[in-house]
Amino acid sequence: MKVLVIGSGAREHALVRSLSLDPTVDAVVAAPGNPGIAAVALCEPLAGGVSDAEAILDVARRHEVDLVVVGPEVPLVAGVADAVCNAGIACFGPSAAAARLEGSKAFAKEVMSVAGVPTGLAHVCTTAGEVEDALDALGAPYVVKDDGLAAGKGVVVTDDRTAALDHARACLAKPDGRVVVEEFLDGPEVSLFCLCDGEMVVPLSPAQDFKRVGDGDSGPNTGGMGAYCPLDWAPPGLVDDVVARVAQPVVDEMAHRGTPFTGVLYVGLALTSRGPRVIEFNVRFGDPETQVVLDRLLTPLGGLLLAAATGHLGDVAPLRWSADHSVTVVVAAADYPGTPRTGDVVSGVEDVPGAPDAYVLHAGTVIGENGLLVSAGGRVLSVVGRGASLAQARRKAYAAVGAIELPGAHHRSDIAERAERGEVTVPG
Ligand code: AMP
Ligand code: GLY
Repeated sequence: MKVLVIGSGAREHALVRSLSLDPTVDAVVAAPGNPGIAAVALCEPLAGGVSDAEAILDVARRHEVDLVVVGPEVPLVAGVADAVCNAGIACFGPSAAAARLEGSKAFAKEVMSVAGVPTGLAHVCTTAGEVEDALDALGAPYVVKDDGLAAGKGVVVTDDRTAALDHARACLAKPDGRVVVEEFLDGPEVSLFCLCDGEMVVPLSPAQDFKRVGDGDSGPNTGGMGAYCPLDWAPPGLVDDVVARVAQPVVDEMAHRGTPFTGVLYVGLALTSRGPRVIEFNVRFGDPETQVVLDRLLTPLGGLLLAAATGHLGDVAPLRWSADHSVTVVVAAADYPGTPRTGDVVSGVEDVPGAPDAYVLHAGTVIGENGLLVSAGGRVLSVVGRGASLAQARRKAYAAVGAIELPGAHHRSDIAERAERGEVTVPG
C-alpha cells in the first residue's frame, strides 16, 4: 500500500520511518515533510499548509495513496479527515466532530462527565469574575487552561493568583474566549496512546513526556522537550485500567453521539493518590512521545493504522514490542518556547555516534539558500537513543546530542534521569 503522512515535525519523521519499515508499505509520501523525512520519503509541498484539504486530496490522488495519516491536531480540528474520507480514501485521524475532544477542553470535560471518566474538578468560565470565583473555590496551585488549541502553551499552573488571572484574561480576550479552571492534579504524568477504529481500542506502550523547558521541570511549558518508554515504575494493570475506565467509555460515548472516534486518542494522565485522572485528551500522536513509542513497536505500523482507519482493529494480532528502552531528547532553537531564532546552520545530524541505536529525527529544519541544513522552528531535532536499559538508552541519546552543532541551541539534560535512578513514584 501507499501512505501519505501530513505534517512536518519529528513525530511525522518517526511515523514515516516506521511506515517505511513495514513490508506491506510500498511507498510513503509526506506533505509537506522536512529535510530528514525527504531522506526516506517523497515530500510534496502543501500550498495552503497542513489544513489545505484540496491540496492534500490532490497529492493523495496523484500518488494513488491507500491511506492518509494526519499528524497534527490543527488539520484534524479543521476537518481534513472528513474531506479525505468523503473522497473515498482511508484516513487515520478523527473527523472534526470527534477532534473536538482536543479542540475544546470544555467539550472534553463534558464527554468525560457523561462517560464517567475520572478527571479533575473543573469550572468552565467566560468572564474574569467567574474565573476569580473558580480560583477561590479550587485554591492553589491554580490551573488555568485556554479552552481552544494553543500548541501546548495554553495551560498555566501557578501559585500566583495574579498570574493565573492574567492568563485567564488573555484567553478570554480571544474571540469566543473561554477558560477552564481546574483542580491541581498531583502525581507523575503518563501519556497513553490508544488506537481507535470507532468502536475498538488498542493501547500502545505508555510513555512519559517532559513539558517544561528547563532541567528539574523549571521554566515555561513547551510542546515537549523529551520522552522515554517503557515506564518501569508504572503500576501493573495501568494500561488495562485506563482503557477500561477512560478510552473505551469515551469511544463508546462518541459512537453513541453519532461522531465515532477514529485515530489515536492520546490520554494524558496524572497518577494521583486517588488513582489515574485525565489531564487532557489529544486526538493525534504526541510529540515527542511518538518518537520513543514507535521506536519500540515491532508490529508493522502501516497495517495497524490502516486497520484503525477502516474499522478492523479487531483483526489485529496482539502488538509486539521490543524489550529495549528508548529515550528522545529534543534539541530546541535559541529563545524557544518564546519566538525561536531561525536560520542557524545545523550540523552533525548524520552518522551520529551510536548509530543505528541512536538517530536523529528532524522537526524545525529546512535546506537554506546556501544549500545547508538550517533551523526553521522551535523544536529543531528529536534525537533518539535505544538500549537494553534506560541508562544505556539515555547514554546513547545524549552522546548523539553531543555530536550535534546548532548555535544557541538548548536541550534538557535530565530526560528520564529520575526514572533511571528509580526516583519516580506513584503517590498512595
Ligand atoms: P495540557 O495542555 O492540558 O496537556 O497541559 C499541559 C501541562 O500542564 C500538563 O502536561 C501538566 O504538566 C500541566 N497540567 C495540566 N493540567 C493540570 C492539572 N489539572 N494539574 C496539574 N498539572 C496540570
Ligand atoms: N507531548 C505533548 C503533546 O504532543 O501534546
